[in-house]
Amino acid sequence: CPSFSHTLVIEKHADPEVNLLFYLRKVHILLLHFRLTGTKYGCGGGGCGACTVMVSRYDPRNKKIRHYPATACLVPICSLHGAAITTVEGVGSIKTRIHPVQERLAKCHGTQCGFCSPGMVMSIYTLLRNHPEPTPEQITEALGGNLCRCTGYRPIVESGKTFCVESTICQMKGSGKCCMDEDESSLVSGEEKMCTKLYNEDEFQPLDPSQEPIFPPELIRMAEDPNKRRLMFQGERTTWIMPVTLNDLLELKTSIPKAPLIMGNTTVGPSIKFKDEFHPVLISPLGLPELYFANNTADGVTIGAGYSLAQLNEALYFTVSEQPKERTKTYYALLKHLRILAGAQIRNMATLGGHVVSRPKFSDLNPILAAGNATINVISKEGQRQIPLNGPFLEGSAEANLRPEEVVLSVSIPYSTQWHFVAGLRLAQRQENAAAIVNAGMSVKFEDGTNTIKELQVFYGNVGPTIVSASQTCRQLIGRQWDDQMLSDACRWVLEEIRIPPAAEGGMVEYRRTLIISLLFKFYLKVRRGLNKMDPKKFPDIPEKFVSALEDFPIKTPQGLQMFQCVDPSQPAQDPVGHPVMHQSAIKHGTGEAIYTDDMPPIDQELFLAVVTSTRAHAKITSIDVSEALACPGVVDVITAEDVPGDNNHSGEILYAQNEVICVGQIVCAVAADTYAHAKAAAKHVRIAYEDIEPKIITIEQALEHNSFLSTERKIEQGNVEHAWKQVDQVIEGEVHVEGQEHFYMETQSILAIPKAEDKEMVLHLATQFPTRVQEYVSAALKVPRSRIACHMKRAGGAFGGKVTKPALLGAVSAVAASKTGHPIRFVLERGDDMLITAGRHPLLGKYKVGFMNSGEIKAADIQYYINGGCTPDESELVLEFIVLKSENAYHIPNFRCRGRVCKTNLPSNTAFRGFGFPQATVVVEAYINAVASQCNLRPEEIREINMYKGTSETAYKQTFNPEPLRRCWKQCLEKSSFYARKQATEEFNKKNYWKKRGLAIIPMKYTIGIPIAFYNQAAALVHIYLDGSVLLTHGGCELGQGLHTKMIQVASRELNIPSSRVHLSETSTVTVPNAVFTAGSMGTDINGKAVQNACQILLARLQPIIRTNPKGKWEEWVAKAFEESINLSATGYFKGYQTYMDWEKEEGKPYPYYVYGASCSEVEVDCLTGAHKLLRTDIFIDAAFSINPALDIGQIEGAFIQGMGFYTIEELKYSPEGMLYTRGPDEYKIPTVTEIPEEFYVTLVRSRNPVAIYSSKGLGEAGMFLGSSVLFAIYDAVTAARTERGLSRTFPLSSPATPELIRMACVDQWTDMIPRDDPSTFTPWSIHVS
Ligand SMILES: Cc1cc2nc3c(=O)[nH]c(=O)nc-3n(C[C@H](O)[C@H](O)[C@H](O)COP(=O)(O)OP(=O)(O)OC[C@H]3O[C@@H](n4cnc5c(N)ncnc54)[C@H](O)[C@@H]3O)c2cc1C
Ligand code: FES
Ligand code: FES
Repeated sequence: CPSFSHTLVIEKHADPEVNLLFYLRKVHILLLHFRLTGTKYGCGGGGCGACTVMVSRYDPRNKKIRHYPATACLVPICSLHGAAITTVEGVGSIKTRIHPVQERLAKCHGTQCGFCSPGMVMSIYTLLRNHPEPTPEQITEALGGNLCRCTGYRPIVESGKTFCVESTICQMKGSGKCCMDEDESSLVSGEEKMCTKLYNEDEFQPLDPSQEPIFPPELIRMAEDPNKRRLMFQGERTTWIMPVTLNDLLELKTSIPKAPLIMGNTTVGPSIKFKDEFHPVLISPLGLPELYFANNTADGVTIGAGYSLAQLNEALYFTVSEQPKERTKTYYALLKHLRILAGAQIRNMATLGGHVVSRPKFSDLNPILAAGNATINVISKEGQRQIPLNGPFLEGSAEANLRPEEVVLSVSIPYSTQWHFVAGLRLAQRQENAAAIVNAGMSVKFEDGTNTIKELQVFYGNVGPTIVSASQTCRQLIGRQWDDQMLSDACRWVLEEIRIPPAAEGGMVEYRRTLIISLLFKFYLKVRRGLNKMDPKKFPDIPEKFVSALEDFPIKTPQGLQMFQCVDPSQPAQDPVGHPVMHQSAIKHGTGEAIYTDDMPPIDQELFLAVVTSTRAHAKITSIDVSEALACPGVVDVITAEDVPGDNNHSGEILYAQNEVICVGQIVCAVAADTYAHAKAAAKHVRIAYEDIEPKIITIEQALEHNSFLSTERKIEQGNVEHAWKQVDQVIEGEVHVEGQEHFYMETQSILAIPKAEDKEMVLHLATQFPTRVQEYVSAALKVPRSRIACHMKRAGGAFGGKVTKPALLGAVSAVAASKTGHPIRFVLERGDDMLITAGRHPLLGKYKVGFMNSGEIKAADIQYYINGGCTPDESELVLEFIVLKSENAYHIPNFRCRGRVCKTNLPSNTAFRGFGFPQATVVVEAYINAVASQCNLRPEEIREINMYKGTSETAYKQTFNPEPLRRCWKQCLEKSSFYARKQATEEFNKKNYWKKRGLAIIPMKYTIGIPIAFYNQAAALVHIYLDGSVLLTHGGCELGQGLHTKMIQVASRELNIPSSRVHLSETSTVTVPNAVFTAGSMGTDINGKAVQNACQILLARLQPIIRTNPKGKWEEWVAKAFEESINLSATGYFKGYQTYMDWEKEEGKPYPYYVYGASCSEVEVDCLTGAHKLLRTDIFIDAAFSINPALDIGQIEGAFIQGMGFYTIEELKYSPEGMLYTRGPDEYKIPTVTEIPEEFYVTLVRSRNPVAIYSSKGLGEAGMFLGSSVLFAIYDAVTAARTERGLSRTFPLSSPATPELIRMACVDQWTDMIPRDDPSTFTPWSIHVS
């Protein structure tokens, strides 16, 4: 009987298969009469933190209560017997009292779409329950398991840091004092008065730990009850048994040896969910006292198997603080990995016993435990025994294994000794919360006082199906000296012993081979250093230049500063425009009271939809057999293409595959059932037979071979390129590959389609950026006029372009199901399906030929772009047009030709994504700038400056513009980032460090706003004034987290001259504003703002005569009077839009109303041995013109920058050669976490004028994305430094993302030269690049 937010819940029918997340969100909890939907679904596998709750348990032995964060999606409700659960609703609510954690997250602007916010609140809240005055490091650590796709984390960390005693929120580097100390928190930059305060700390309620709810005494009594009895829960298919004594457990294990023990459920849970494992009986010995202890003995420590990894961490910390260093080397190695293994939630759930027994092949602990000679203490009815936790055990050899009836009691980890070294090494795509690509545990014992190897143990993770021991190599090295010759032999032998086959699962074969020996080399250096420390005379130290290779990058708490123009002091206090106003829903985000589509309560008779998708990239459907699926429990119907009354193929987009499939992941049919579990189970019983069709085109290269395109060529040309080649000093050619990106909005695509009883009406609630398109597709599919289709959109939990077109398709799929069955349909994609079906950013191939003078002046460029559009048109043609138009970035090249084509492939159809092609295309531009620099022996920033637009200019498509703000941003960025001084420091660092290199890059940006098609720039608004003076505002734009509604309220408040508290904005709907265009292209505020302004001005003009007669009157008096005088208090506002156009025949036009300029400088450090990188600092200067809301604008810039940084560095989609996407969740696809953001992050909004936009503002939603490429180019700078030092060519193929694999393999050295290489023609690789 868990207690929910102060409420005792007695669940008499606890089903072992039901997890806490489902239970909270979907089960009508007795007594509560409502569902707790604050806890969100983001992945279902423990990888995103959206479902974080606080679990509290009472330990009767030490009489202490343990509070810890847990991911509800992996917590079986049966495991919660006797536990108290606090959900976000229990922390605080608007209805009762909001908690300081919620308040500060909101007021520090730590929420945008708000979907991650309840999870963030729970992580910080739980930390505060244990540490009311945490350190900044604890805040960062607590947030490591929570993903946010919007904010870029900086404001979230900052909100947490407000609880620290020593706040480090604002540190003006170099100035020696905090900007908050400045007068009115403002600074003067040039002529501008700059502000730095985005919120007012004085408004915060204090944290009073004594106000927190107490642990329910009833649960204490239960825990202390001496007469506990075995508990059993019987579900639909599964039995849950909780033994209360060890004997009972052993009895159970003997009688049902196959039943797994459920401890943290972090291995069993994901296997059940994602691998279809089924266990009829689950045994849960949670809380069994014999499994929970930490003993320090004369030989080492023994830790109970039930200890969570977090408790293991605490126990080891305690031991290392008590024991001499030489005895604790194994513990130090474990502690290092325990800090970054998964996130805080998983570390608090996963147990040592579960970890040791499940033996994940990527285990971060087992290789170290093995290297440290740990033993497992097991028990069965037969008695106790010890199993060495060594190679045979980890490799699963039968004689070394646990017997099925045995239970692990504890793990003993011996002390290390004086001439003994132990280390853990690892490399992952991301520093924290990412399984290792390769990891290792290594130890060596020497004959006392010598460097003669007495015992050597080397274990690797993720190089085979299990942890692998290099035992042969180790044996051969006994008796050898620890010297370079030994290392060289060790590397050769280990590569012979551990062979990763060329087509091995997981790919990255050459990289993993390189890591095997690179990590060994790191260990070698560590040990040499250690020997030297022990006897410097006998054992020479490693070269000074190698020292930095020893340590991994530290995790630091990010800090920084945001600067923006202060509001004119003469502006009326009530006018919110220009102020950093909090997002209108921020508090609701933090309390979990903001309602997203799937939070809407169930509708009578609603059905759930699960889709069946194609497993083939290109095939004929020879048959679909749904009979078995129809017979499954709860199934109401199966919907196929045959059931679509209207267009199944609308504008080239196919709802349900018919006759043929054209990509893996295409929807073939959908099962409608009474629960999602039933729909999903039945979907597995649909039998589809295929016959492959040739060709199957997956990559751009294959598309070019087959002449497979989705559109004709687009071209822009100026000057005479062919002639120019003859006039230049040098010509170079190159190719750049840029891979795609997954949107990874935290809220997956969610739709609720409700058929109405009359007139074929259909109502849809969904998260979309384009309700009009949903209406269009549903209307076409149902063959019903659009006037009968109502689409409502309250908010989306992130979108980033991924909810422009795809919701229309999915909405139509749902509407067809709703129409056929006559039931409301709830269709919420699981993360894996969302990633598979909806695709993302277009992969791009850019080929360039550039002619330039030796001075660095580029005279001619000829660029050819190809993008991988996937299988249907979607918006690919428009993306391509953007690429061609935007591809000059900030540079004037007098002879310029750019051409582009969209390739048609058998991949899911790629779509809009923040920046709309620009972030990919400009990598090619900056790459050839770098290549020119290298050829001219000049620095890239010199080439950038030489070729940058100067003075009023014309673009290649003949649009006139003044790049003055661009040059200002560039100059300020160079100056304020101390670019040249830091460049010198970087060079100094690089001279002194061989295996770590630093890189610095500064990138300019000219970003286009808007759409080259004029009618896509129109907008409308509807404003009602009610008789109490309150105002209801509606417009055509969608709230995606960017704060559009907040800005619209600011506009209405200024225009109507009323406080913003009077203005309400509820939702976007096709009913209130028809035919609205998509909310994308950074245009939301621009166009809707003008429409809102227009409506308000119309209303105010109507009120003017009344105001004039009673100028001192109150707003509500004027409104009442207007009503009495029969004045219409409702108005439609309209903005015709920017009159943009593009004539592709003439290759000229005015496609964009204006540009946003900016510059960004980033500094990174690269580990040449592993390929890891650390972002040390970023400075962004962006031309915001006049910011309507600096907090929201800075939020967009920072969030986009981090999303861009992820795109350019660690986010990597992996496809099989057959066109199947492997990366379908946070475990496989790594978006940045709090550890990836710059250690120092400075953002400045630069003032300029922009008379065409509302209040002279600029659209800043997307521009920051490309600025993330400064990290990519800083990485290349660092890699170039490494290559130069090693005598390699400075020019090398540049592609994106610069993953650890790419970095490591570009830093060619003796280790990369040593690995075996395979002839590509002899095998089919596990994964391929599709760009
Ligand atoms: C999101 C996520 C990220 C992760 N990241 C990492 C990472 O970066 N590095 C890493 O090394 N690992 C990582 N893991 C794996 C994690 O460490 C293991 O899943 C965890 O340690 C297993 O412990 P558990 O208590 O949850 O096991 P459970 O799932 O409860 O049980 C696992 C197995 O162990 C058996 N078992 C459990 N206890 C005993 C016992 N006392 N005696 C006998 N058998 C027992 C069970 O029968 C079962 O078969 C991650 C897991 C998740 C979900
Ligand atoms: S939904 Fe639970 S961690 Fe993602
Ligand atoms: S605010 Fe964090 S995911 Fe949107």
